[in-house]
This record gives sequence, C-alpha cells and structure tokens, in this order.
Amino acid sequence: MRPLLEVRDLVVRFPLPRRRPWHRRTFHPAVDGVSFTVAPGETLGLVGESGSGKTTVGRTVLGLQRADSGTVTCGDADVTRFGRVVPTAYRRRVQAVFQDPYGSLNPTMVVADLVGEPLGLHTGLTCREREERVVELLELVGLSARHLGRYPYHFSGGQQQRIAIARALALEPELIILDEPVSALDVSIQSQVVNLLEDVQERTGVAYLFIAHDLAVVRHISDRIAVMHRGRLVEIGDADQVCDAPAHPYAQLLLASVLDADLDGREARRARRRELAASFRTAPDR
Ligand SMILES: Nc1ncnc2c1ncn2[C@@H]1O[C@H](COP(=O)(O)OP(=O)(O)OP(=O)(O)O)[C@@H](O)[C@H]1O
Ligand SMILES: [Mg+2]
Repeated sequence: MRPLLEVRDLVVRFPLPRRRPWHRRTFHPAVDGVSFTVAPGETLGLVGESGSGKTTVGRTVLGLQRADSGTVTCGDADVTRFGRVVPTAYRRRVQAVFQDPYGSLNPTMVVADLVGEPLGLHTGLTCREREERVVELLELVGLSARHLGRYPYHFSGGQQQRIAIARALALEPELIILDEPVSALDVSIQSQVVNLLEDVQERTGVAYLFIAHDLAVVRHISDRIAVMHRGRLVEIGDADQVCDAPAHPYAQLLLASVLDADLDGREARRARRRELAASFRTAPDR
C-alpha cells in the first residue's frame, strides 16, 4: 500500500548560541537523517529519550518547523515546499493533539465553539449543521450535547483531552500527530484516552503518529514503533518485536533504561504496568 506519510532523510538543525558575536554560528542537528513511513490507518509509535528529536519530527510533519534537508510528503502534499503559512487544505488533513490539553484549549471559549471553530473556518456548514456535527463529535469522544456550553476549566484533564481530540477530528483528518497526548493524565485516565483513540481509529480510519516515552502505552497502541536516539532513528519495526527483541544496541540500551532506570523504581513501574494493562482490559468509561 502507498504510504500516507513519507519522511525521507529529514534533517532539522537549530542554531546554537554564539559565545562571542564574532564566533562562527554552529548548529545542533535535532533531527539528523530520519526516514520512516506511516500507512493509511496505521499507528506508528515514536519513542526516545528526552531531547532525541521526537517533537521536532512531529512539528516538521505539521509544517510548523522548517526542514533543513530531506523531504516530508503526506499524500500529494510536499511539506518541505510549504512557505511560512501552512496551506489550509493540509491543515484539514493533518491535525495535532498535544500533551497539555488545558494549555491547548482557549479558556475563553465554550466547548461548542472549541470543537466547532475548525468547522466554521474550513467548511460551509450552517450554524445548525455545525452544532449537529459538534454533538456527533462529542459523542464520538464520550461527551454529549449537555457539555456544549461549558468552558475548559469545567472539565477534568482526561475530559479536556477528549475535547482536544474531538476538535482534532472535526475536519476528518487522515493523520493526527499525537505528541505525548496522555503523559499529563492520571494512569486510569490514560487508558481511557488510549482506548478512545483506538476506538476513533477503528471508526474513522485515521492514522496516528504517537509520540511518547511511556513504552507500555506506546506498545499497546502502536502497530509499529520507531526508536529515536540523538536525532537519529536507530530502530523501527513491528511493536512487539521492537519491545521484545530490539536489534540495535542503542535501542536495547534505551529500552532497558526506560524500563529499569533505577532499581528502586522498578517494582513500582512493574506494578504500574500491571495496573495499566488491567485497566486496558476493563476500561469503564468510553
Ligand atoms: N526551537 C528550538 N530552538 C532551539 N533548539 C531546539 C528547539 N526545539 C528543540 N530544540 C532542541 O532540539 C532537540 C530535540 O528537541 P525535541 O523537543 O524535538 O525533543 P523530544 O524528543 O521531543 O524531547 P522530550 O521527550 O523532552 O519532549 C533538543 O536538544 C532541543 O533542545
Ligand atoms: Mg517532545
């Protein structure tokens, strides 16, 4: 199958501060020759230690960060050729959900407007059609029409993330970049949101680039996993295979360090993984 998203030899560099004004400018390669694809309807998990370049990859795919070299194509759009403004058609097709739902929702807008705004900007729906669609979207994420007039602060973190997801889904995107979408949430809520994302994917066929550092969550949701280390992709493959038998020494080290970083925390993390796995099986609120 033709990939939906194709990233080839992507390089993104950031200028380092000059110690003296007359010193030559040097650059830090945050993303250094990364290549991967995402198929339609697929979930690719992107993991790696802090600062390895995951968010930069996501922002480049969204057209928010300029690439220094390489190509990013999504369908027939060549992201690396975009100017300063991301074309409207592309913004419709590729959406994003970030870690902090409260920070990404305008606190002065009620849910009806938060979820309905993209519809108002990008479609010719009448007010009534828009409201119907907003209710449909709210129901898709486990909320309802009675939430329409409420402000973000009326909701819990998990509910706020549901609103952010409904907003991202409004224009029926083909791809959603999820950058640590559950990291700020309570463990029990994490599994609800992850289940919701899976549910939505089954119903809509949307593809996900799921950026996170929690392997238990990434493994659960991903078809394939890519491991980043210092701006490079050191491993990519089937989710179980990457977690159980990583081939690359960096990936082995990284996965071992994520799972067993400190001996004291290990038992706690094991318990947490068991708890997480159990709540995946019995998630109450969908
Ligand atoms: N706007 C920027 N200007 C300068 N350097 C940046 C900028 N954005 C990111 N970087 C640097 O690029 C590198 C990769 O950052 P990035 O945010 O992509 O990492 P990450 O894998 O998402 O990390 P985390 O897990 O902490 O979110 C880091 O060294 C970071 O300091
Ligand atoms: Mg990040």
